[in-house]
Amino acid sequence: MKFTAIAAISSIALSSATSAIAGPEAEVLHWWTSGGEAKSVAVLQKEFADNGGTWTDMPVAGGGGDAAMAALRARVLSGNAPTAVQLKGPAIQEWYEEGVLADISSVAEAQGWSAVLPASIAGHMKCEGSWCAAPVNVHRVDWIWANASVLEANGIDMPSTWDEFNAAAEKLQAAGIIPLAHGGQAWQDATVFEAVALGILGANGFHKAFVELDEETLTSDAMVAVFDQMRKMRGYVDPNFSGRDWNLATAMVMNGEAAFQIMGDWAKGEFMAAGKVPGEDFLCLSTPGEGFLYNVDSFAMFAVDGEDKTQGQNLLAELIVGQNFQKVFNLNKGSIPARTDVALDEFDTCAHISAADMSASSLSGSLLPSYAHGMALRGAQSGAITDVVTAHFNSDMSSAEAVAQLAKAVANSY
Ligand code: GAL
Repeated sequence: MKFTAIAAISSIALSSATSAIAGPEAEVLHWWTSGGEAKSVAVLQKEFADNGGTWTDMPVAGGGGDAAMAALRARVLSGNAPTAVQLKGPAIQEWYEEGVLADISSVAEAQGWSAVLPASIAGHMKCEGSWCAAPVNVHRVDWIWANASVLEANGIDMPSTWDEFNAAAEKLQAAGIIPLAHGGQAWQDATVFEAVALGILGANGFHKAFVELDEETLTSDAMVAVFDQMRKMRGYVDPNFSGRDWNLATAMVMNGEAAFQIMGDWAKGEFMAAGKVPGEDFLCLSTPGEGFLYNVDSFAMFAVDGEDKTQGQNLLAELIVGQNFQKVFNLNKGSIPARTDVALDEFDTCAHISAADMSASSLSGSLLPSYAHGMALRGAQSGAITDVVTAHFNSDMSSAEAVAQLAKAVANSY
């Protein structure tokens, strides 16, 4: 039992509205600061305010959330945790083990979350059988985005193999177009790497490498081939890629400076926020290979004092899993709802592909957690892998050396 006593006595939102408290309150830590992300989080802020809540915003800029997670650690260590935190994957259980999370089971049970969430998603939201996080969406990570007119002008189809991708990239490069819009930040390198790895290792190999951390797979010839392809990818980015934010890379595809971006479908949120139309202005296709890399955003509540804050946490949890929020938020965010009972008719073709591929891959055993977005591994292990990926991408390290370092880094990460 790692929940604190204060959390365990919480009751569903607004049930004690007669008390003299100021009303539901929440200080919310998140990293949704790009155009599409900000539009999406505004949906939650509005619903919270419409239901009497007072929202204190704590945005910590930085795609992928590394900076937000550092800020969270500092706040918790100083004994002043935020009330609600964008947190996902095994990091939820890691914080639970520190004894600092609140139990939101009363909301989950009252709302019947078990009946409306896929078991794989529900599993991530539970800590020793109790509910400790509320899921917002399902982002798919293994996507290629492209500028439709750039491809058309150069006689290029969306690539369905890595060889086709390489051939397209070389043709574009010869025509003076940047083939791959990329930002040189460790999490973006990891995002491209895991998409390449899924294609080359296959779903089973991906699972062995990045869920089971199987040494044989981590040091296999197939893994050498993954790094070979990463070396090619490095040749397709422009010289100014270092440190660039992911949404600026998306903008390069939007304005035709670059042809492709490999990024999760939060990139679609950027295209949509800029008024671009899927299938016309931009194209989406899953990266070459079988499978689906999922990245489920969620919020965990931290144990804090005060009935107003507890009410705020319960109200947030209730709204997040609410049907309307799951629809409107995800229309903006580029993801699909975590709930299975939200109608998708207002969603675009990319979202429909995502939903269909998610069910198909769930049936075929190729629905896989994203390692790059903290869904597959604990922080120490995913961090060890990403350090090697980024060191290889930013040097002339050979693939054989990268694989040797990968095995060593993983072995030393426990
Ligand atoms: C992911 C997160 C997405 C998106 C992205 C870029 O890790 O799950 O919601 O925000 O980072 O910031």
